Amino acid sequence: MRPRVNSNSLIFLVLLQGAGVVMFCNWYYELSPCDSPPADPKVHVLLLSSWRSGSSFLGQVFSQHPSVFYLMEPAWHVWSTMRTYGAKTLQMAVRDLMRSVFQCDFSVMDSYMSENRNTSSFFMWYQSRALCSPPLCSVTPFGQISNMKECQKECHGLDFEKATNSCQIYSHVVLKETRFFELESLYPLFQDPNLDLRIVHLIRDPRAVYRSREESALSFEMDNPIILEHRDVPEAEEQFQVMKKICQSHIRINETATQDPPAFLKGRYKLVRYEDVTRHPLQEISDIYDFVGLKMTKEMEDWIVTMTHGKGKGNLNNAFEVIPRNAAQVSQAWRSTLPFNKVKRIQEVCKEAMSMLRYKAVNSEEEQKRLDMDLYMPEGPKGFAWASGKLRSH
Ligand SMILES: *[C@@H]1O[C@H](CO)[C@@H](O)[C@H](O)[C@H]1NC(C)=O
Ligand SMILES: *[C@@H]1O[C@H](CO)[C@@H](O)[C@H](O)[C@H]1NC(C)=O
Repeated sequence: MRPRVNSNSLIFLVLLQGAGVVMFCNWYYELSPCDSPPADPKVHVLLLSSWRSGSSFLGQVFSQHPSVFYLMEPAWHVWSTMRTYGAKTLQMAVRDLMRSVFQCDFSVMDSYMSENRNTSSFFMWYQSRALCSPPLCSVTPFGQISNMKECQKECHGLDFEKATNSCQIYSHVVLKETRFFELESLYPLFQDPNLDLRIVHLIRDPRAVYRSREESALSFEMDNPIILEHRDVPEAEEQFQVMKKICQSHIRINETATQDPPAFLKGRYKLVRYEDVTRHPLQEISDIYDFVGLKMTKEMEDWIVTMTHGKGKGNLNNAFEVIPRNAAQVSQAWRSTLPFNKVKRIQEVCKEAMSMLRYKAVNSEEEQKRLDMDLYMPEGPKGFAWASGKLRSH
């Protein structure tokens, strides 16, 4: 004979048990959250971008945040040490370097820095607020915006080993890298139980990228041959071939992330157009913070407004300087300065990427110069809602 159980009392028992579990979890939440905690509760963010795509600015949006340990281009050390190789050969060294750095293990730099290294040996170290803050340096107290010039003066040449102590304090480690042309090599990082990886993929109008690259051509002497796998390319062609490779990488990365992506990529990839950031900085940056689990602070909000509404027009002496500028204006500068024949050429080599990323081509010099013609707004009913600002999803 089966014991009879009254269905009401069964439901009651199930509810009671459920409530017990919830209470138990809340009670012990601080000690051990009931949904199994990751081995290292840090979030790891890769700001993936190409050269001159506004990534110095977006890098600072992370670097200045009080919860972030940021490094700019750790892969630079790999490329500059082994510059006779091509990008493809260096790719795995770059990936594995990133894996170590994400976990605050800087011993990987043994291969790329001299023995008497210090905190200033990191490429563009002063771009990292964390390297200008305690426990390394007292110049930038926690929660304050770092001043690069001041940091450069007061915080250079500190104990390299202490960078690890600093890195371990933060909930987020953010690395900016321009030296990736695909996502597949990063799959093992997504699957690594010690990492919680998110990718913010920053792209920018290839015509604006080209103009900006021309302005700082010297900084690409090392990179271009590596990107082009040391192929023999006529000098006049070099920049276009590099642009072509960059544009192809946008397509490839987008396809990987959107067409039947592996489960571990879901919710971990976000595409950001630089032009959208310059038009709606607070909105876009709040979205990016949400995506990686960072809170917007009052200090960051003020800083973002200052940086995107300045008067500077982007006449850059130092290619990596981040100064207040009228961001929306800067993103259109190519339209008045770039000759139309070059614009046409870039539109050719980047045709597919531009249409995928909703950058409208111009058909004449006149269209190029007509600034009232918007090249960045998506078309159609969805585009209309998006363009009107208020109707955006949030
Ligand atoms: C720190 O390292 C940099 C570059 O690696 C070097 O130029 C500088 O002299 C070093 N500074 C100190 C204080 O050791
Ligand atoms: C990326 O490509 C897919 C098609 O594979 C497309 O549906 C999607 O809109 C593209 N993403 C962007 C941002 O253009």
